[in-house]
Amino acid sequence: MERTVINLHTRFKIGKVDEKIFGGFLEHLGRAVYEGVYDPKSRNADEDGLRKDVMETLKQLDMTAMRWPGGNFASGYHWLDGVGPKEKRPVVKDLAWQTPEPNQFGIDEFIKLCRKMRWYPMITANMGTGTPEEARNWVEYCNLPSGTKYADIRTANGNKEPHNVKLWCLGNEMDGEWQLGHLPPDHYAIKAQQAAKMMKDVDKEIELVVCGSSSIFMPTYMDWDYIVLDYTWDLVDYISLHRYVGNPNNDTPDFLAVTNSINRQIEEMASVCRFIQAKKKSKKMVYLCFDEWNVWYKNHESNGKGKFAPHLLEEIYNLEDALVVAGFLNSFIRHSDVLKVANIAQIVNVIAPVLTKEDDILVQSIFYPFEMVSKRRSGVSLRISVDGPTYESQSYGQTTLIDASAILGTGKLHIFATNRNITEKAEVLISPADIEILSVESADILTGPNPKAANSFENKNVVVSKKFKDTSVSDGKAVCKIPPLSFVAITFNVQ
Ligand code: AHR
Repeated sequence: MERTVINLHTRFKIGKVDEKIFGGFLEHLGRAVYEGVYDPKSRNADEDGLRKDVMETLKQLDMTAMRWPGGNFASGYHWLDGVGPKEKRPVVKDLAWQTPEPNQFGIDEFIKLCRKMRWYPMITANMGTGTPEEARNWVEYCNLPSGTKYADIRTANGNKEPHNVKLWCLGNEMDGEWQLGHLPPDHYAIKAQQAAKMMKDVDKEIELVVCGSSSIFMPTYMDWDYIVLDYTWDLVDYISLHRYVGNPNNDTPDFLAVTNSINRQIEEMASVCRFIQAKKKSKKMVYLCFDEWNVWYKNHESNGKGKFAPHLLEEIYNLEDALVVAGFLNSFIRHSDVLKVANIAQIVNVIAPVLTKEDDILVQSIFYPFEMVSKRRSGVSLRISVDGPTYESQSYGQTTLIDASAILGTGKLHIFATNRNITEKAEVLISPADIEILSVESADILTGPNPKAANSFENKNVVVSKKFKDTSVSDGKAVCKIPPLSFVAITFNVQ
């Protein structure tokens, strides 16, 4: 069995882990909203038409910032269509996914869901077919006390208290020609700047996310980000990154090494921010908001063909996908100094950890790494060294067999480690230089019979997290033996 040593020192801190990196994303797409979170006809619906089984399951992930209403959908969405008496709301044709949108779930319903789930609402304003003024009006509707036009409309709709939405995205993937109202970078930057100014003039406490590159493969990658930040630097708080990864060549070790490329994407984006900061001799920093990320490559069915709540993008997740999700989370923790918000795309039915089938519900493999990390998220990320065997990935270069991250909490040390070896168990020594590991407080493992193993409605427990027992503690250090193709999350008591 090959050995890896994780060395750490508690003074080598990267940054506080922002709980907003455990965010989610809910889009009007396929069966995410209708039949996903909102289904008044379901046996599981509560008094507001929200699905209790979906909410109870998602509560285990303890998600934070919830991005809504899109995605591509947001670029054609006019928020006023989704408020007021439900029977008077128009049915409109959604061009992003080619489906009828009945507007039965709008901002007031979304806020109700957020309150029940303890999520922070994160709204994507329409910078495609919408205007800066429409975005400004939406902020007023959500955040001002009654007394002015849009705040009064909210009050008339039965919501006297403001919704208090503090996180807003200035559009979605505006660099992509598939986006409704797509613009060249300087045109988008001016539009975003105008919207940002008015939105912050309505409520100076809001935080804004400007659209960065939607993919590292865009021809405008980095140029777009540079131009957009140069225009909007003083008005925005975050720039967005998106990333969807997959294993189309069926090469598991290569797929598991994609974490190298995620690290690199974050570091490149942070470099553009630093560059503009230096150029402007600015004291402020713009941080990173990874507001769409996940594995997605198997199901590209994206045309709703005029059907309401069609089955779109219903990806089935397996063990290797879950290990890649763990890799995203490890990378986010390792970049806690620059990455402050992240939203797994998405939460139910559409590229999601949870699927519904009529009144039944299925938890997919990718649910578990999110849960295992989310419940151990509080603390400061530590700069660790991972010394051990490596392999050469064809796409992503030299890769350590163990991918890891660490969070130091109060009297606790959380270690997250993936064994990317597809056949061999790995021994991992966790060796802190200046504190002692006293005992294991809790430890979980996610593994499965093979990389393609997946849960299904017929067999729900093929890839599920279990208690991890193979850890021993002595002399202030810990040794764990991690099976091949597994992810472990361990909380140690330390002093
Ligand atoms: O999450 C699905 C889609 O992927 C989103 O609508 C879009 O922003 C991205 O291309």
